[in-house]
Amino acid sequence: MIKQILNNKIFKTISEIADKNEIEVYVIGGFVRDYFLNRPSKDIDILVIGSGIDFSLKVAEELGIKKVSKFKTFGTSMFKYKNMEIEFVGARKESYSRESRNPIIENGTLDDDQKRRDFTINAMAFSLNKANLGELLDPFNGTGDLNEKIIRTPLNPDITFSDDPLRMLRAIRFATQLNFELDELVFNSIQKNKERINIITKERIVEELNKILLSPYPSTGFILLDKTGLLNEFFPEFVNLKGTETINGTSHKDNFFHSLEVVDNLAKKTDNLWLLWAGLLHDIGKPKSKRYNEKTGFTFHAHEIIGGKMVVNIFKNFKMPLNEKLNYVKKLVELHLRPIAIVKDVTDSAVRRLLFEAGNDIDDLMKLAEADITSKNEAKVKKYLSNFEIVRQKLIEIEEKDKLRNWQPPITGEEIMEFLKIKPSKDVGIIKNKIKDAILDGEIKNTKEEAFKYMSNQAKKLGLL
Ligand code: CTP
Repeated sequence: MIKQILNNKIFKTISEIADKNEIEVYVIGGFVRDYFLNRPSKDIDILVIGSGIDFSLKVAEELGIKKVSKFKTFGTSMFKYKNMEIEFVGARKESYSRESRNPIIENGTLDDDQKRRDFTINAMAFSLNKANLGELLDPFNGTGDLNEKIIRTPLNPDITFSDDPLRMLRAIRFATQLNFELDELVFNSIQKNKERINIITKERIVEELNKILLSPYPSTGFILLDKTGLLNEFFPEFVNLKGTETINGTSHKDNFFHSLEVVDNLAKKTDNLWLLWAGLLHDIGKPKSKRYNEKTGFTFHAHEIIGGKMVVNIFKNFKMPLNEKLNYVKKLVELHLRPIAIVKDVTDSAVRRLLFEAGNDIDDLMKLAEADITSKNEAKVKKYLSNFEIVRQKLIEIEEKDKLRNWQPPITGEEIMEFLKIKPSKDVGIIKNKIKDAILDGEIKNTKEEAFKYMSNQAKKLGLL
């Protein structure tokens, strides 16, 4: 089986060049792991006992590839071949770390290199030399751990994690993606070394969080992150959602587990990373807005607005994109209660307003609102979901009639200024909003003519005409 794969043009070329130059070469890491997991892999890591960069240039020449990216400080190089990324690395004697500023020492053996990798399941290699082509070199019993579904490190985890603390997060990410457990030593070591995550760049942390969010059950990852204490190191706002409180017999739900249930629900319906982030953060404003009142019990007034503001800070802190992705997540967090509110009062004007505010993201907002129903009471859930069906129908109806998704009011700010002979001012905004509201509330028709008539009346009332 593996021999068949190694018969592919890319591996065959690598094998021939390796033998011709008498260099030991292996395919290692994720490709080998994914071969045993039956997952197709597009990234191929080639381990060279010698200089990875020199060897990659020989292979590229043979394949007629012009563009080879070289990373001298890491001792690696990479090129694309068909739809695959082929990365070459020289075997290392010392730690395999991307954080290290010291130049890589490439005089290691296969065994040296395997020891310094993150997990036993990522340290397996197939030989690419003719003498033992396809032989599996698995000194730490990675195949056994794949069968047992367990994340173990080749060395004492304290050493493996001190080589690169991001590996603590990677351990939890792999456990979540693959539905594996953490070995007890690994779990304890993460608990012990959690503070070391702070030397890792936010970008690398977020890359792992994104992979956790895109897993079948993201909650598994966040619960492990929390249990080990890692989460509090880089995402205390999320840990703050944890816990319930009871006063005079009334309590509120645990918003940490609720948020995770919402993300799990969404993960079944979407692979839109940003919708998953919106699910994760939809209630992030709750701790700050929590109040207790004798009559109404616990309230979380305006948590969606507070949450929207927090989303901006979280994105900034995590060095996430401050572009339309942020606007999207912020908008969904701010609007997440609206579909539920409409369920209670499905009027044309409420539906029109929601369509106008959500625009093209209305379908995602509906998905979020549905995922937000996490009651344990099945009858209640059923009722809500069937009510949502009514809202969806109404959305379709109104959208067909009024085409509000990307609607703009029929009169622009310039037209208002020209008509009323006024300069840019607060009044222009007030008038513009009044026209918009009148149309959304169905007071006037969505035409220029009616809008002008309405504007003239309103302007008179305001003493502008
Ligand atoms: N590796 C490591 N320590 C790290 C990162 C990577 O030891 N902090 C090693 C592992 O052997 C890993 C290989 O480098 O298998 C390739 O790393 P990467 O491409 O990041 O991960 P993959 O294992 O290929 O998995 P994925 O593509 O899912 O990230």
